[in-house]
Amino acid sequence: MIRLSLLSLLVASSFAFGADDPKAAARLETFNKEIKPMLEKSCLSCHGKDGKPGKHGFSVYTLENTVKGGKEEGPGITWGNADKSSLYRLSLLGATARGEEMAMPPKDKKQEPLTMDQLAKMKAWIEAK
Ligand code: HEC
Repeated sequence: MIRLSLLSLLVASSFAFGADDPKAAARLETFNKEIKPMLEKSCLSCHGKDGKPGKHGFSVYTLENTVKGGKEEGPGITWGNADKSSLYRLSLLGATARGEEMAMPPKDKKQEPLTMDQLAKMKAWIEAK
């Protein structure tokens, strides 16, 4: 009996997590290899350097915190929808509409906005099927 329920637990959990696992692993790998390095220069000094909570509670130090987002602008990442991802939305303002109040990095600061090439990579990563 015990064996049987253990087995069904295993089967159930592989259904629950197995399907999404390769995707989660790929997302994390791209975050560490491509996304975080681009955020390091433009964002990290204000958003979670050394793992500390960043400005407006937003930290890009780990993928988990980046997904969660900050206090006011909604989730940092909504998988499948870059426009509903504050990470992307405010970075895009930073690159294309520097005068906007929420453009990131803030317009009066020395950090460089992301390039259109970096933004395209970020969007593709968020919206990858
Ligand atoms: C010089 C410091 C600084 C830099 C660099 C910076 N930010 Fe910010 N960020 C802030 C401040 C301050 C706020 C709070 C809003 C405000 O007062 O403008 C904020 C708010 C945010 C928020 C909203 C959090 C919420 O939900 O309330 C997001 C998202 C964000 N920043 C993303 C970024 C990204 C992405 C970058 C890099 C492209 C970046 N920031 C670079 C200072 C910075």
